[in-house]
Amino acid sequence: MKIIDSIQNKLIVKMGFKYYDEDKYLIQKCIKCSNKNNPSVLDVGCGTGHHSLLFEKYGAKVTAFDYDESAIDKAKENRMKHNSKVTFLVADGRYPEKYFTEKYDIIFMAGFSIFGIDLNKPIMTKYLSMLNEGGILVLVHNSNLTGLVRKTNWKNHTIEELRSFFESVGSNIEKIYFYDRHITIKILRRFAITGPSTKMHILISKITKLPCAIVFIVSKSKNGK
Ligand SMILES: C[S@@+](CC[C@H](N)C(=O)[O-])C[C@H]1O[C@@H](n2cnc3c(N)ncnc32)[C@H](O)[C@@H]1O
Repeated sequence: MKIIDSIQNKLIVKMGFKYYDEDKYLIQKCIKCSNKNNPSVLDVGCGTGHHSLLFEKYGAKVTAFDYDESAIDKAKENRMKHNSKVTFLVADGRYPEKYFTEKYDIIFMAGFSIFGIDLNKPIMTKYLSMLNEGGILVLVHNSNLTGLVRKTNWKNHTIEELRSFFESVGSNIEKIYFYDRHITIKILRRFAITGPSTKMHILISKITKLPCAIVFIVSKSKNGK
């Protein structure tokens, strides 16, 4: 996986991977769901820091990490450009307990390769235990919902699979969205992270098999499991 990640990151750094405006609505939605105006955020597998900087822009205090040093170097360059205060670190996301002692209001994982195929319960349980009371964990995973594994070693997780995974680690599912990060009609972008748009994207993806991003927003269950 490390090789694939590093190729991906090199391509992003070289070609300037284009992120789309929908992401800003996703980040705003995450902050709203956290019920805090200035939540503390841990961006797990942050790559070059696109989401970290957006979280900061909308009021969050952000710590972000990746195990790929070149991605973190680029993230730090981006931090300079944006006059940002995000803390970027090199760390291995399999062992968060080695690097982090704080708890967070939002733990955010977009395209985190550790869960690319293997929805690993012990690792997810560690992250859930790092949430503040009332905090949320957000998993964003690219999928066409078929349940099949791609040649790039990435599984098209189904919604049902993710739902039962999160239930099995004792979390409450707060919201589920499915959205296209490449909506070219600007006016539709702000509706990307809504129930009706989710239903529409599920239908389109089931017909066309085109991937979108599944977003699971979960919280720790009250009994602290
Ligand atoms: C598909 S990229 C997503 C990057 C970023 N979150 C985004 O959405 O733009 C997956 C990221 O996970 C990172 N990653 C994979 N395994 C990791 C690990 N064990 N510890 C930390 N980061 C990891 C990779 O280096 C890569 O930057």
